[in-house]
Amino acid sequence: MSHATRENARPTAAPPPPARAPASAAPNSLDPRFNDRAAEQSVTVEQPRSYRPLRIGPVEVGFPVVQAALSGYSDWAMRRIARALGASYTLCEVMLDEVLLRHGKRAKRRLLRVEDDDHPVGGQLMGSQPEGFGKAAGELVAAGFDVIDINFGCPVRKVLGRCRGGFLLGEVTTALEIVARVREAVPPHIPVTVKMRRGLDDSPESREKFFQIFDGAFARGVAAITVHGRTVQQRYDGPSKWDFLREVKQHAGQRTVLGSGDLFSAAACWRMMRETGVDGVTVARGAIGNPWIFTQAQALAAGKPLPAPPRLHEQRDVIAKHYQLAESLYGEEQCCRMMRKFGIKYSRLHPQADQVRSAFVAVKQRAEWQAVLARYYRDDLPGCYPDEAADECNLQSCGAPST
Ligand SMILES: Cc1cc2nc3c(=O)[nH]c(=O)nc-3n(C[C@H](O)[C@H](O)[C@H](O)COP(=O)(O)O)c2cc1C
Repeated sequence: MSHATRENARPTAAPPPPARAPASAAPNSLDPRFNDRAAEQSVTVEQPRSYRPLRIGPVEVGFPVVQAALSGYSDWAMRRIARALGASYTLCEVMLDEVLLRHGKRAKRRLLRVEDDDHPVGGQLMGSQPEGFGKAAGELVAAGFDVIDINFGCPVRKVLGRCRGGFLLGEVTTALEIVARVREAVPPHIPVTVKMRRGLDDSPESREKFFQIFDGAFARGVAAITVHGRTVQQRYDGPSKWDFLREVKQHAGQRTVLGSGDLFSAAACWRMMRETGVDGVTVARGAIGNPWIFTQAQALAAGKPLPAPPRLHEQRDVIAKHYQLAESLYGEEQCCRMMRKFGIKYSRLHPQADQVRSAFVAVKQRAEWQAVLARYYRDDLPGCYPDEAADECNLQSCGAPST
């Protein structure tokens, strides 16, 4: 589906005047393939209405388009890149309470990396027993995380089998005890938040439990709740139900709600806020290999036209920086494995997406990575908006330390 088609896929409310992407995607007459993609990519978007700066308890986030937690992706390196390109708040990938409590320093070092220029940043916890959560939350606070988020959403089968993540949406008492334990364990100036899917499934019972957990968590002192508009059973099949997000925000009133699901363009971020009234949005798959989504969302918020996709030299510089950060975190060998999946996503912004994707897939060492950049990003051609949702992400690694 083309970007423009996806933009038009949802009905919109009371449209303000449209803004047009600039023609800066100046066609490159040497590259007919680019001309085809550029022609398809003339995108009309709606300007956002003004927004309220996002606050999570005492933490002033400001710009309400933030980087979601992404297991296997939103490590320190990805967060640094997202922040440099406009994400106001980032969430670390989910961590298991038992990993934080039992594993050695080496396993945790990468997960817990927070630096002075990496704020505000949220650390997310997942587990099954309320007893483990309080102490694990203390570890996150000690590491420097500004917000402690609790995961009641992960749909991975192994996670559900161990009574963690999305499983807890069916266990109101346990879920609320976890929230209470974390809130008690964490100092008052550190907000606690929750991430939920809209239920285990589509049954009325599941819906009732959602609202019991939602209200119960706020009653126990959480500062905000992020709602992903898919059920656990649904995993990633079918759309995120934005109608449900609107209903939740109406129910929440002044309480802070962030929305999640199907945010694959800057325009979609603002459309979710406009259509549902949520206080902020968390960009997940849409930010993998496209951190410019934050810059583009900022431009729209400032009343500017949708910026053209980054040109190839800008892409090259960001990809190289991402690699360098990841290598400092993982070392060369593991970095190549880690960055391959990012390379696949970055390739979507290249006019020769298929060749670049294959080239990144074949990379086994740093020199090969550099060779891909030198070969395919040598000429400063215009880039492309990614065509498709980033739907091939590996969901298996939830909560494990990436050693
Ligand atoms: C690979 C992958 C890893 C994820 N890891 C986490 C996670 O660690 N914590 C979390 O709360 N949600 C996680 N999610 C869910 C996303 O944050 C988000 O709610 C979901 O992808 C819906 O948004 P999207 O449709 O815009 O991608 C993950 C999703 C994907 C695809």
